[in-house]
Amino acid sequence: MNRDTLVQILDLARWAPSGDNTQPWRFEIVTDNHIAIHGYDTRDHVIYDFEGRPSQMAHGALLETLRIAASGFQISTEWQVRPRCAENAPIYDVLLTPKPDLPADPLLPYIEQRVVQRRPMRTTPLSYSQRESLANAAGPNYSVQFFEHSRDRLQVASLLWDNAYIRLTCPEAFPVHRDIIEWGVRFSKDRLPEEAIGVDPLTAKLMKWVMASWKRVEFFNHYLMGTIAPRIQLDFIPAMACAAHLLLRPRRPPITLEDYVESGIAMQRIWLTATANALYLQPEMTPVIFRWYAKAAREISADSKINDAVSLLASRFDALVGVSPVEPFAFFCRVGRSAKPWSRSLRKDLSQLMVNG
Ligand SMILES: Cc1cc2nc3c(=O)[nH]c(=O)nc-3n(C[C@H](O)[C@H](O)[C@H](O)COP(=O)(O)O)c2cc1C
Repeated sequence: MNRDTLVQILDLARWAPSGDNTQPWRFEIVTDNHIAIHGYDTRDHVIYDFEGRPSQMAHGALLETLRIAASGFQISTEWQVRPRCAENAPIYDVLLTPKPDLPADPLLPYIEQRVVQRRPMRTTPLSYSQRESLANAAGPNYSVQFFEHSRDRLQVASLLWDNAYIRLTCPEAFPVHRDIIEWGVRFSKDRLPEEAIGVDPLTAKLMKWVMASWKRVEFFNHYLMGTIAPRIQLDFIPAMACAAHLLLRPRRPPITLEDYVESGIAMQRIWLTATANALYLQPEMTPVIFRWYAKAAREISADSKINDAVSLLASRFDALVGVSPVEPFAFFCRVGRSAKPWSRSLRKDLSQLMVNG
């Protein structure tokens, strides 16, 4: 394969999604049939990156997007984790093989179109074929559970309402929220642009001012019911305004790095399949992440009230899904029809993502 083809494949693969658009990967063209993906995670400073799992899921999304992108050039890919890498810096060796008869993957046209929609969507129910294709997209190692009726969406909305209270009042989450938004823009190459986060311009202005310091956030939350407006706009209304929430459940508990990477592959297949079915999607990962903390008996905060709230939320999530706490959850999201978002995250330039220029 010539280098130009590899560059074109990587240029497409970099559109894979990652939590807060962190793009936790760097690319190395090792030879003309070997690409190394240098993954990393952000667990040392991002409380949501529990044991690096969301980053590992993003690595999976990237590897799957790379596979689909390569199929457009009649090239198949195979990856494996390089032995003896640090746990928070896995290297994925991807071998590429030309296969003249390989058909382009049907999801190929949707790699760049796939985008997160955080604003209200229509409540038009999923059609039978949309539901079937989403349920099958993840493959045989996962089951997909839908929450569709207004009663079920109300229960999810109530869970997300309490979930957001934890997010907004947890001091350890504050620096994460402060640093991930690029204010006043419609597009952002390395963060979330203000206009894609889903609040109206006035609330955005207020959020920007309040989020300049934790003292302001505390004051605002305490005396001015500061969590109400963002929770209504970012959690409650979107949770009702969608066709369905969807929970991806692995059939056996994920344990290894590869297991979480596989969950990310399934996540990306569902997301691209939603796009192919004219549906938009928004991940709702924090309840899953808080449940990981609760199950591992790990404290998320120095504030014990927050840790208690996280445990309670995890039990409520179990009850909503109708399972015991040992059942694993991988990915939670909402889907529905809507207009195309006018604002989105872009990606770092490929040259910034290459380790060897
Ligand atoms: C593992 C993972 C978790 C995510 N969690 C959330 C989430 O909880 N809420 C949300 O609005 N977006 C979430 N996202 C979406 C990312 O913020 C989004 O994919 C990224 O900013 C890039 O934007 P794009 O998908 O529109 O290209 C998540 C994405 C991934 C891969």
